[in-house]
Amino acid sequence: MSRVFSGIQPTGDPHIGNYFGAMRNYVTLGEQYGKNSIYCVVDLHAITNPAASDPAALAQQTLDMAVANFAAGLDPSKVTFFLQSQVPEHQELAWIFTCITPVGELERMTQYKDKSAQFESVPAGLLMYPALMAADILLYKADTVPVGEDQTQHIELTREIARKFNHHFGQTFDEPKAVYNKDALRIPGVDGQGKMSKSKGNTIGILEPLDDIWQKLRAAPTDPARVRRTDPGNPHVCLIFDYHKLFSDLDTIQMVDRECRTAGIGCVDCKKKLLEGMTAHLTPIQQRAEELRADPDYVRDALRQGTKEARAIAGSVMEEVREKVGFLKL
Ligand code: TYM
Repeated sequence: MSRVFSGIQPTGDPHIGNYFGAMRNYVTLGEQYGKNSIYCVVDLHAITNPAASDPAALAQQTLDMAVANFAAGLDPSKVTFFLQSQVPEHQELAWIFTCITPVGELERMTQYKDKSAQFESVPAGLLMYPALMAADILLYKADTVPVGEDQTQHIELTREIARKFNHHFGQTFDEPKAVYNKDALRIPGVDGQGKMSKSKGNTIGILEPLDDIWQKLRAAPTDPARVRRTDPGNPHVCLIFDYHKLFSDLDTIQMVDRECRTAGIGCVDCKKKLLEGMTAHLTPIQQRAEELRADPDYVRDALRQGTKEARAIAGSVMEEVREKVGFLKL
């Protein structure tokens, strides 16, 4: 049985990196795989950095992330969508995986290195993070994992953990593969300083008011060689052109490409054109999110139903795992 799994952290308002890098693939794969496409808001992962997680806000952010995904096109009646903390088997399998994963492999993870550097005393959960992520995926025996490029190393470790488990306890898990949106492997942040990421504060939220988005675009850097309006530019070193490729139609992309090189269009006008594309793309999503927010019972019921569906699979896979590991069945 072929299955899709992916998880997303409850950061409140997903940004356009999450959206193009991963969420759009959730929708496309959801159309192909139906209930065998399984997505969850990973609230257990969200507390691995206690400094960044706010208990008073977590529940609301979790709900907001569900709303954003439904607004962006996931239909919870057609796919399986649930909350990680509602399915305790994730933690059970994660524990078993931590017992077969060398600490050295966890310490090698780039995200661990980056995040742990901020702590004087590193929370153990931050180190175990990828074992929990492997458990998320393998608990559903998923073979297809839509993610952005930053998750590649974690998916490779998941494959390694699957191999180790099979070696110790007998063939149980196939090795899952990452699936990327090749046009959005690593969306850059609006400050032009590397990847768009909530922790860097350089995001454009898909539910962010368009006026606020405009303020960010206005301040965004463009080709540094274009000092005056009359200087020709190179769109291929320009962040705004990267965003055009995501939001604008082909005619606009070609026009901007040509006119930037000849200084036919200035950077401010180019940004205004981009805002038009963003407005056309994001307005229907934002309207749908408003409707969903006005109907919290619908969202909660959908999550309850998704949890039931997820637990049915998780329960049967864990039964097999417990038996393979040798736990006494009473
Ligand atoms: P998270 O919540 O940081 O991000 C959610 C998804 O968005 C992708 N992404 C990006 N893609 C392109 N450009 C960007 N700038 C960008 N920023 C984020 C991420 O790659 C991700 O696919 N560890 C995961 C959550 C997780 C998970 C899982 C994913 C937990 N368990 C099991 C897949 C399978 C994370 O923190 O994603």
